[in-house]
Amino acid sequence: MPHSHLFSAYPLEDYRAHAPTIDKAIKATLENGYYILGTEVAAFEREFAAYVGTKHAIGVGNGTDSIELLLRGLDIGHGHKVAVPSHTAVASASAIARAGATPVFLDIDPKTYTITPESLEKTILSPAGEGLKAVLAVHIYGHPADIPALQQICDQHEIILLEDCAQAHGATINGRQIGSLARGASFSFYPTKNLGAIGDGGGVTTDDDALAEKIRWLRQYGWKRRYISDYEGINSRLDELQAAILRVKLIALADSIRTRRKLAALYDSELAGLPLMTPQTRLGCEHAYHLYVIRLQRRDELMRHLISKGVPAALHYPAAVHEQPAYEHITRASNPLPETDSLYPEILSLPLHPHLSEDAILKTASLIREFFQS
Ligand SMILES: Cc1ncc(COP(=O)(O)O)c(C=O)c1O
Repeated sequence: MPHSHLFSAYPLEDYRAHAPTIDKAIKATLENGYYILGTEVAAFEREFAAYVGTKHAIGVGNGTDSIELLLRGLDIGHGHKVAVPSHTAVASASAIARAGATPVFLDIDPKTYTITPESLEKTILSPAGEGLKAVLAVHIYGHPADIPALQQICDQHEIILLEDCAQAHGATINGRQIGSLARGASFSFYPTKNLGAIGDGGGVTTDDDALAEKIRWLRQYGWKRRYISDYEGINSRLDELQAAILRVKLIALADSIRTRRKLAALYDSELAGLPLMTPQTRLGCEHAYHLYVIRLQRRDELMRHLISKGVPAALHYPAAVHEQPAYEHITRASNPLPETDSLYPEILSLPLHPHLSEDAILKTASLIREFFQS
């Protein structure tokens, strides 16, 4: 019997969980009459910076733009290379290209799926690393990249370290929130993210006053003063309505991440002993479980089994960025990525979000056990 009724969609459930307050916030914003870069964006920026623990947060149009604006704010563009994992959403690489720079792919750790210091060092010392200006470390699935180790290498080689936090709101390293650990960080508030708007949204966090100010200019036509562009900027502003919605959801974020961790722990214990790898957490880190991704050899068979029973198992992603046609030329200029290549046929994302019931987790786990017994 299909079990699809157990597996509600996160964006809608998250709206329903906060509907009265969100509706009120939307109405108040509509009545306020100030729809672009008004009081809601300013308040959200203050509150989000406080949550992350940085001096500044700048609201922008989406997560992809937040990476582009971060790079452009640091004058990283034509003639520069930016290292990035190939195991990420394509946006991490496409935003680097949009800024005018060239992405260079780094390989990952086979347990946490984040870029390794070894891969960075090897790239720096190889032709692929010539002209390397920055590293964009992605906190994939909600697990932090090893920022302290990467920072040491970046410092030795005068390379700027940046964080892509789109999948990891609420993850920490040694008790500090990701997004506060490097020179600057990008966030997405796409509806499925740990902190999701009801539409597009993104943000940059940093302690750097000059960088924050420049990104504020760049997100609005490069205006320092109204109507006068000192820089060639773009239009990428966080919307007032989305900011009002995000303010409501930010209050609930810590609780919702606690629930994600509780449900992930339930999966961990229910799947223990099976021939698959559950998500691993590096010492000193707290996982934010944006996704719960298992690794196993019989991935395709298990995925078919779960989907046939109404469980929405999914792939994040079906192909690494370096396997995608648009990025072939970059792949040729990067070093080989054996860990990324061997990971891709083996990953499977199981349903996880804070509005799922324990029953949904137990049902999924029991179908997985049944699969291995048959
Ligand atoms: C790791 C990563 N970086 C960047 C992005 C881009 O964010 P957005 O979709 O808001 O542009 C995403 C979202 O898909 C992501 O998962």
